[in-house]
Amino acid sequence: MRLSLTYILGLAGALAQTSVSSYITTESPIAKAGVLANIGSSGSLSSGAKPGVVIASPSTVNPDYLYTWTRDSSLTFKALIDQYVNGQDDTLGTLIDDFTQTEATLQQIDNPSGSVSTGGLGEPKFNINETAFTGDWGRPQRDGPALRATAIMTYATYLWNSGNTSYVTETLWPVIELDLNYVADNWNQSTFDLWEEVDSSSFFTTAVQHRSLREGITFAKLIGETSDVSNYETQADALLCFLQSYWNPADTYITANTGGGRSGKDANTVLASIHTFDPAAGCDDTTFQPCSDKALSNVKVYVDSFRSIYTINNGISADAAVATGRYPEDSYYDGNPWYLCTLAVAEQLYDALIVWDALGELNVTSTSLAFFSQFDSSVATGTYASDSDEYSTLTSAVQAFADGFVEQVAQYTPSNGSLSEQYSKSDGSPLSAYDLTWSFAAALTAFEARAGNKYGSWGAAGLNATCSGSGSGEDTVAVTFTVDYDTEYGENLYITGSVDALENWSTRDALIMSAADYPTWSITVNLPANTTIQYKYIAIFNGDVTWEDDPNNEITTPASGSATQADSWH
Ligand code: NOJ
Ligand code: NOJ
Repeated sequence: MRLSLTYILGLAGALAQTSVSSYITTESPIAKAGVLANIGSSGSLSSGAKPGVVIASPSTVNPDYLYTWTRDSSLTFKALIDQYVNGQDDTLGTLIDDFTQTEATLQQIDNPSGSVSTGGLGEPKFNINETAFTGDWGRPQRDGPALRATAIMTYATYLWNSGNTSYVTETLWPVIELDLNYVADNWNQSTFDLWEEVDSSSFFTTAVQHRSLREGITFAKLIGETSDVSNYETQADALLCFLQSYWNPADTYITANTGGGRSGKDANTVLASIHTFDPAAGCDDTTFQPCSDKALSNVKVYVDSFRSIYTINNGISADAAVATGRYPEDSYYDGNPWYLCTLAVAEQLYDALIVWDALGELNVTSTSLAFFSQFDSSVATGTYASDSDEYSTLTSAVQAFADGFVEQVAQYTPSNGSLSEQYSKSDGSPLSAYDLTWSFAAALTAFEARAGNKYGSWGAAGLNATCSGSGSGEDTVAVTFTVDYDTEYGENLYITGSVDALENWSTRDALIMSAADYPTWSITVNLPANTTIQYKYIAIFNGDVTWEDDPNNEITTPASGSATQADSWH
């Protein structure tokens, strides 16, 4: 009997899918139970944790992870809240209420990053009895408030739409607003990255901050709390502009951190893509959607960086899935693959498949060509409709590739289904913290994506990165200008100046400032780095322009990072 190649490949694919499906069938309930066991006070492994406190892991030695991290907790509860509001699990309501109450309590605890009003919201982790952790740590970590706001807004939107409006306005909005204002006020300050190591700006942090403010705008309008909205809009635009600067056009990947002295190839960027996935945004590359050409190019570069550094990846062909970790230079526990990182690759690709299916087409650009060439070396740039052979070839291959990452995880999951933080690069055995909550949550969200389930949009569709003057490749720095000015009702303050980013002295296109902190007006603008720039504030009332007197104001921007410029009107 002669079997065609397509038949054999189809059979191999079907077998692989069966093994992935059976792994998911077994692992799903284990992962769900693993998450719930790690939530106080009734979780079976979380004794000592207050209600709604998510422990990172029950491990108390090598490493001691019996703490609660805002990032891990918020990502975990986002997954649970999605299940709850989508009717997949209606038993979770009380636990979610516990979580929001716990986070409201933690927000108010004085800690080494500050008090609630002086930076304390950026504190990365707390003791599980809801007291401050006072040891040395990489702080602040400014992704936490954004992720927490996103999780709680998802729940609050559901409650609002079910008519529970006073609870939302009186109890949840104050918690959300604190986090969103923290993001709006501090996003351009340096931060430790999600791996708690590099103090600079970080793609994951910027991306989730941007998402949270966009959601905040929609949510605040929904519930009629609009006083912060114009500031959120200004800051979200500035964040989206800044987000573009992480793209490395020469090497076609997203550089994870502005500091740190590494290659910048990092699961940071893949996690950002899945945690800012908006199924309504198509393959938008301004927000680095999972199927955008930039995110696809990036995921290939990221994955390839692990092929030759882990023994367990030896012998795997160059276009097949491998074990992946945080970043290739990692030395924590000697640098190993992480379950949640490998699962994130699968999830990004499943998200991409969801969107291509909805769009009925797939686009190959010069930026994503290297990604797609892995699956068909003769593929050309262009748009392939879902009834074309090329579309079938590529999407089947992406599905198999994505499944391959789940198979890596399956292969190295111990028989009791526990997911630790890491698995050994030399033999795949579990390492570091056992039963890591975030590993289980990552399995749950990857499995949902494979099943084609998609959750709420956050407003990524149709956004433009309006940052004149910060074209790709050009170094920019985020400069915050503030000036005090008493206006009449209807009068606004603007800034205009000598560069594109300040509209070249135009009064008509001058940039409007925010009065969120009236009488202090402020705006953050991405300006060319290392440049001397002249500018003035102008007040406009009914079309009448009032200029500041001469001379012009002047600023010389730093080479990198950000700056603040506090002026007084003259
Ligand atoms: C503990 C942090 O949690 C981990 O991310 C980091 O790699 C190590 N400290 C080393 O800095
Ligand atoms: C170390 C990881 O690097 C960090 O991202 C995480 O928040 C903590 N462990 C707790 O899981």
